[in-house]
Order: sequence, then structure tokens, then C-alpha cells
Amino acid sequence: MSEESDVVRGERFSGGPARGFLSSMVADERIFRADLAVDRAHVVMLDEQGVVDEESAGSILDGLAAVEEAGYDQLSGEDVHAAIESAVIDCIGPDGGRMHTARSRNDEVATCIRYRFREDLLDTVDATLALRSALLESAREHTETLMPGYTHRQPAQPTTVGHLLASYEQAFARDTERLVAAYDRTNRSPLGAAAFAGTPFEVDRERTADLLGFDGLVENSMDAVSTRDFLVEGASALASLAVSLSGLATDLVEFASDGYLDVHDDYASTSSIMPQKKNPDSLELVRACAGDANAGLNGLLTTLKGLPRAYNRDLQTATPHAWDSVDAVVPATEVAAGAVATARWEREALADAASAGFSTATGVADLLAMAGLPFRTAHEILALAAEDIENGAAVEYETVATAAEAVLDDSLDTYVEREAVERALDPEASVASRDSFGGPAPASVEAALGRREAGVDEDEDALADRRAQLDGAAEALEREVARRG
Ligand code: ARG
Repeated sequence: MSEESDVVRGERFSGGPARGFLSSMVADERIFRADLAVDRAHVVMLDEQGVVDEESAGSILDGLAAVEEAGYDQLSGEDVHAAIESAVIDCIGPDGGRMHTARSRNDEVATCIRYRFREDLLDTVDATLALRSALLESAREHTETLMPGYTHRQPAQPTTVGHLLASYEQAFARDTERLVAAYDRTNRSPLGAAAFAGTPFEVDRERTADLLGFDGLVENSMDAVSTRDFLVEGASALASLAVSLSGLATDLVEFASDGYLDVHDDYASTSSIMPQKKNPDSLELVRACAGDANAGLNGLLTTLKGLPRAYNRDLQTATPHAWDSVDAVVPATEVAAGAVATARWEREALADAASAGFSTATGVADLLAMAGLPFRTAHEILALAAEDIENGAAVEYETVATAAEAVLDDSLDTYVEREAVERALDPEASVASRDSFGGPAPASVEAALGRREAGVDEDEDALADRRAQLDGAAEALEREVARRG
């Protein structure tokens, strides 16, 4: 298809070895629907403005319907824009050549990309919402499920599975926010900028923006055709989301390896040689999407760097980097949601691990500091106790008391009651005591989950509003087309 000529090339520049190289037909399939919508909105506006007569407008719109009906595979040309225009002319005759009045492929392609990318961004937002809901639901079930919390991937302090999952939900909520912000800046119309220098025709840019569901214009016509910063912004939101996903995936893979988590069979695979193995492959692929997303962002930034004003053909190569990011990150987000929702946390193994080692040392140090000792002195006592425990002493009151006496030259019970120390040594009581705002105590997490769920609801509304605006515009455009067709 890319080998054929089109109305833009005509007989000039129609041959030679660079023909296939110049073509974007393969990548452009993604903006086929977008281009049809952009063409329709443009033709309706040209008709309303009296730039094109009603009859020609009507037959162009009929031609576009025929092109849509025939499908993408029937098109041929250098790119989707030229191919559709050629097909319309083939279909309705020379009047089809009026469609490209008062525009250029430069504002056309920029509009098409925004039109399509905003849908991709909303789909990504949708995927983050499903993941956040899965995390919160699972967190609700596990506000009391003890587990070791880590720093440097070393067991550090006991926490709960609920607190861990809620921590990821909070990260993904920021990803949602970044995606929505990227959407809002993407959703502005460059149409009417023409090649870069505007047009002498009386176009109504606000009108085409409205018909296409955009929130406003990219005003300056030179900027409108040149910029792809909305792709950079979206791709960086996607890259950030992918990095969050990769962290979650690593935690789940490692917990599965430690025997703390059973990944559902649907998200596991086996070995081709070791039949006993159950591998968390899906989560490893979720983790790997960060590579694609970072590649997409870097591809964009590198292609765009140093481009002069206004349109340059390099821009044709920039766009697919954004599509690749979307295509890597959205499925990964959906799979992560499914894996989280179906995974089984092994409560017993986690509880055992939470009390292994001297995981409550910090909590006991906190207790001594609350009793009036300088925290550094308390830390010294617990460091000594930890050393004794490493050398075989039991995790119990006596061990702490012996260390305290060595450091303080005084008996521990002049500072704290034995019972309080014993409570602090118990992982469950230790977690419950850390009830600061945002902390892991079951009561704190319960309260946080209520707020987080409300946040998901709000973001769901924000998504629904945006989708409704696009649907409303699509219907309005359809009505305008139907009136003329
Ligand atoms: N296929 C081109 C792209 O994606 C469309 C714009 C072509 N414009 C031009 N002046 N050659 O950028």
C-alpha cells in the first residue's frame, strides 16, 4: 500500500528508493479513526464558514463514510492523511480536493495524534484505577496480616501487608494524577494552524476544537504544528507508572520466592524442564515494561532534541515511541491488577518472618526514649541487645534488661515496666503502637483506606467526565455529518 502514489505526490517525488522509507502508513493505522474525525470536523466547519459549498461538503462527507467502510487496508499513499484524501477524490471526484482547503498535513497530523493519544491516556488512567482498587481491596483484607518490613532489603521493622499494599496504591494515585494532567494538556487543538503560518481562509478554530472534544486551542500556529511536548509529558507519566509497577512486581516476585505469597496460577508459568516449578513470569514481564516505557520516553526526547521550528519530518518518527509506551504499560498495569487481586498471602509464614531476628528492636528503643532516655542511649542499649541475640540470646525482656544495665549502670525497671518492654517485643503490639498518621497500625491503615477509596472514586469521576466530554463531542460531530450526508 505504501508503494502507491497519492494526491499529494502526484507525479513529483513519487518514485525512488526512499518511497517506503518516507511512508508512515504502517504506524498511521493507529490514527485512522482520528483522521476521519478530524476530516469531518474540518469539512463541517468549512461548510459553516462558507469556505466550501454545502453540496461539496456533503459529498466529501459521503466519501469519508465510504473510505471508513472500506477500511484501512484499502488505502494507499505516503501517509494516512494523503491516502484518505486520495481515496475521497477517487470516490467523489475533484470536489474531494476541497477537503484540504485551509489546512496542512502538519496541523492535521498534530491534531490526529492528540486525538488518539488522549484516548490512550484515558485508558491508562482506567488501568491505574483498576490496579488501585485491587490494591485497596487486598489491603482491607490484610490490615492485621503481619509481615517483615524492609530497608536495604534487610528485615527492618514489622509491618502489615495492608500497609505495604496501601503504600503502592498511594504511588499509583500519583501516576493517575500525572496521566490526567498530561491528558489535560494533550487535549488542545492545533487544527487551523495549517503548515505553521496560519491561513487566509476564515476558519473557526474554536469550532473544530469543539467538534473534536478539545478543551481549547494550541494558539500560536507555529507552536501548534511543532510541539510534541504533550507526548513527552504523557510518555514520562507512563514511564513513572512503569517504574512504580516494576517496584511492585519485584516485591511480589521476591515474596513469592520467600514463600510469603502464592501467585495465582493464571499469572504463573512453569519451566520447560523442571516440572515442579511455578514461576511468577507475568510479574517479571510487568517489571520489564519499565524498559519499554523508558525506551519510549528516551526515543521521544532524543528525536525531538534540537528540532528547529516549525514542522520537520523527524516528528513522524517521534510519534510511535509514544504508542509503544502505551502498548507496553497499559497491559502491564492490567496484569498487575489481576495478579494483586488473586494472589494469596501466606499469613503464617509472614507472621513467623515478622518476628524473626530482632525486628522489634526499634520499637523497644522508642519505648525507652518515651520513658525519658535520650534516643541515642536507647539505641545503644538495643544495639548491644541485638549483638547478644545474634550470639544466641533470646528475644525477651532479660536480654534487653542485661544490655540496659551494662549501658546505664542502672536497672531497666527504674525507667520502664517489664510488661511494656514485653509488649514492645511482640511484633503485633509493635505494629499496633505505630499509629502515627500514615503509619502501619491497623487502626491507622483502616482510616487511611477510607480516604484512599474516596480518592479512587474522585478519580473515577474525573475519568468519567473526560470520557463524557469526548463522547458528547463525537455525537455532536456525528449529528453535523448526518445533516449533510
Ligand atoms: N506523516 C507525517 C507525520 O507523521 C504527516 C505530516 C507530513 N507533513 C509534511 N510536511 N511532510 O508527521
